[in-house]
Amino acid sequence: MALHSLRGFRDLLPPDSARFTAIEAAAREVFALYGYQELRIPTLELKELFVKSTGETTDIVEKEMYAFTDGGGREVAMRPEGTPGVVRAYIEQNLSQSGRNGKFYYIGNMFRAERPQAGRFREFEQIGAEYIGNASPYADAESITMLVRLIEKAGLPGCSVELNSLGCAECRKTYRQALLAYLQGCAEKLCEPCRGRIERNPLRALDCKIDGPWLAGSAPKLTLCPDCAEHFARTQELLRISGIQHNVNPGLVRGLDYYTRTVFEVRSSALGSQDAVCGGGRYDDLVKSMGGPAAPAIGWALGVDRLAMLLKDRPAADGSPKAFVVAAAKEAGQKAYELLTALRAAGLSADFSSFDLSLKSQMRSADKSGAAFALIIGEDELKAGTCAVKPLKQPGEQKIVPITEVTALLTTLAAG
Ligand code: HAM
Repeated sequence: MALHSLRGFRDLLPPDSARFTAIEAAAREVFALYGYQELRIPTLELKELFVKSTGETTDIVEKEMYAFTDGGGREVAMRPEGTPGVVRAYIEQNLSQSGRNGKFYYIGNMFRAERPQAGRFREFEQIGAEYIGNASPYADAESITMLVRLIEKAGLPGCSVELNSLGCAECRKTYRQALLAYLQGCAEKLCEPCRGRIERNPLRALDCKIDGPWLAGSAPKLTLCPDCAEHFARTQELLRISGIQHNVNPGLVRGLDYYTRTVFEVRSSALGSQDAVCGGGRYDDLVKSMGGPAAPAIGWALGVDRLAMLLKDRPAADGSPKAFVVAAAKEAGQKAYELLTALRAAGLSADFSSFDLSLKSQMRSADKSGAAFALIIGEDELKAGTCAVKPLKQPGEQKIVPITEVTALLTTLAAG
């Protein structure tokens, strides 16, 4: 039997791969505008990192991690998200002392053994941003504004942000008790996993796909302490100043344990049930709880696979070469090869099939390649030191040009 890829793991083919590249390029441009620098963090980390940061009671850690014991007997895991690795690096590399501004971005694949479905893969790409060391609502507004501008730059205008505040540890202490009492009172109505973890993490029930919707109407609501309420109000005000559409959604709790205060998601109904394009929030206590300095932080991660799905009807950059070089006679092969080399050296994309094949076959390949021009060298051209330039995409006469002038001509045509 032929070998095949694993379920939930996929090959990205053109033009989808070009869509991913374009999103990444848009992201890098936007990150540069906001002073973010790239961090490249490992794909494999100690499992404990995710247990301690993402959270023991989260779906990700409980059931979705690709975790195993390596040859050295270490418990390791393929990263299911980027935030824990960034925080580990921040602490391990002493980045708080590096004189940097604490703004980092990463682009990379994440791994979660979820049940595959439309928009949900076991290996997927995230573009993530983390701003460590700034507690002010200006940082919240900047981070969310940057996210929306990035999505716009990638080609999807008009998105709106779902926003909530989960308060600080203090606000949540009293709330946790009230919610726990409520959930215990209606435990028989909860789904199995929620029932199993209400003591450990009652808030997760609000985020559950099954119980979340009915609990949103009936469960007790979180009351923010004055500081958290002010932070949230100011964040919203600043988002209005930045012109960012947002909707306060008290049901938004997010499925990871480290969040405090502001949490947000960008969703799109066009994606079906896996509708979150991006999720993020503040994590003011995480760096300290992982052994680092007291460093409040905020960040988000964008699902590139999902954004690419939303952009699938937009034209992707076509990878067609500008020119396709054809040798119409065997003896012209070497000249054609020299021309191909010169074109590429001049920064013009060029391709060929095989100079030993028939003219007809080479011209068929030229058409298929999507090239704008075929550059043909036959016996006559070889003798005269010329080349035939034949437009393939637009109507136009074939021209005979001295071979020394072809690159200049194509450069002018490429610019026009
Ligand atoms: P998350 O909400 O778990 O947050 O993931 C962020 C985004 O990754 C989701 O909105 C979705 O677009 C994409 N995503 C997640 N799982 C899958 C999947 N199985 N297949 C395809 N796409 C997926 C985080 O990961 C946090 N680290 C975000 C963050 C950064 N919070 C603070 N800083």
